[in-house]
Amino acid sequence: MIIFQFIDDISAYLSKQKQAGKRIGFVPTMGALHKGHLSLIETSKLNNQITVCSIFVNPTQFNDANDFEKYPKTTESDIKQLIEVGCDVLFLPSTNTIYPEDRVSKHYELGNIELVLEGKYRTGHFQGVCKVVDRLLTIIKPHQIILGQKDLQQCLVVKKLLEITKSNTQLIVSDIIREDNGLAMSSRNMRLTEIQKEQAAVIYQSILFIKNNIEVLTAHECKEKAKTMLLSGGVSAIDYVEICEAKTLIEVSEYNPMTPSVVVIAVFIGEIRLIDNMFISEKINA
Ligand code: PAJ
Repeated sequence: MIIFQFIDDISAYLSKQKQAGKRIGFVPTMGALHKGHLSLIETSKLNNQITVCSIFVNPTQFNDANDFEKYPKTTESDIKQLIEVGCDVLFLPSTNTIYPEDRVSKHYELGNIELVLEGKYRTGHFQGVCKVVDRLLTIIKPHQIILGQKDLQQCLVVKKLLEITKSNTQLIVSDIIREDNGLAMSSRNMRLTEIQKEQAAVIYQSILFIKNNIEVLTAHECKEKAKTMLLSGGVSAIDYVEICEAKTLIEVSEYNPMTPSVVVIAVFIGEIRLIDNMFISEKINA
């Protein structure tokens, strides 16, 4: 695996590869890698000859300074895992490389998708995601960008970004990888105690409860019962438990099996905020 820190070097290398007819797949990350991230590398390798992973803990997408400071950094183990899975290129830029002082900050017109759910609870988060993804795409110019369904709203935001910027890059959404107890893998899980990790399985169980009961209970009843399960199962606070249209993330008051729908959840276990989701009708590819 080749590691680049500077734009000129990675650009020169990748343009040579493109000239040689190679397809480039790109997996952006913030590091603290786990099997969820590695599955995206594997997805990229299926369709591309060169897979580029970036590790950059993006300050502009954190609305909580404490969350940014405490974000786990495990670069040595990340590099080892990337080599093992066969990643070809790692881009490891500094903050100054991504956000040079003379760079003019852009605003992205994302519409409703940045206002609901995560957008409501994490003001400015998706503008920060667009800033960094736009910048990385301009540098790497990949044929495909591979993102995880774990962050479904982020996938829809990046889809919108690709439209706005008239990008030729294709978005691929890869499945959620879970622990044996159902907990969706996340870098933030590293900050949970073993007991909390067991408790956090209730997030998955409550999503399954909604999926399994949505035809027999009302949407409201499903959500209320799921909230009770979460709070009695060790969750300390709930930001949201919603059933939404899968393509727009607009909340649905009544479930319609003909409309692709998704359960979305954001909760706290102790001070750690965790999100998860699951399609409850026909699966869509964002
Ligand atoms: P990060 O949280 O590091 O996630 C990087 C990618 O891994 C995202 O596309 C995310 O959805 C995916 N991912 C995380 N957990 C996963 C799991 N359990 N299964 C499958 N995929 C999973 O998301 C970000 O970083 C940042 O916002 C970023 C896009 C890099 C921009 O800074």
